[in-house]
Amino acid sequence: MNLEKVRIISNPVVLLNLSTMRDKKTDSQGVRIATRKITRCLLYEASKNLPLVEKEITTPVATFKAKTIDPDINLIISPILRAGLIFTDEAIDILPQACIRHIGMYRDEKTLKPIWYYNKVPMEAKNPEQFYIYITDPMLATGNSLLEAIRLYADKGIPISNIKCICIIAAPEGIRNIQKYFPDVEIITAAVDEKLNEKGYIVPGMGDAGDRIFNT
Ligand code: URA
Repeated sequence: MNLEKVRIISNPVVLLNLSTMRDKKTDSQGVRIATRKITRCLLYEASKNLPLVEKEITTPVATFKAKTIDPDINLIISPILRAGLIFTDEAIDILPQACIRHIGMYRDEKTLKPIWYYNKVPMEAKNPEQFYIYITDPMLATGNSLLEAIRLYADKGIPISNIKCICIIAAPEGIRNIQKYFPDVEIITAAVDEKLNEKGYIVPGMGDAGDRIFNT
């Protein structure tokens, strides 16, 4: 596992909320609130790769050239359904120019392979270098779903340096799987846990993120 391409965001606010969301005593509403706070921190980190432009603005005191995110880039947030949805409200709050392109995959419980059921990424990428993609999934377990999602964008010619995987908890097995095919893709996460268990759950992890977030 190449940790150079894994950005672990472990500031105290993230750690506080990570311990809350992992705790099996935390109810679904508590998990959602804690998770959202972490997603915001991770998205701020991810946004460091966005290109800036200068824009003339006038404050009540003076006119000056302010730096701002380039409004002409195509910024796409791609949540992997269903747990990845927990990123979307925070993402469009802090990055209002982003569009949300959902990716629907579930894990076959026996093979742990992803099964597609929804793909909202039909668009062409005419200027692929102008596209910036954040694929969101709180749990990077086997990495199989994330791999499919990365491929979807990489096949459109979007540079790997413009594609970020944003997770909350990652397993070493999943990171290795992704790095086998996309060694240069950056993974932003709050934690790298110990391992996957025989059922494909991250240990210690948080259990089934979708179930805990959506109270199922
Ligand atoms: N998906 C989850 O929700 N939890 C895990 O531990 C692994 C995959």
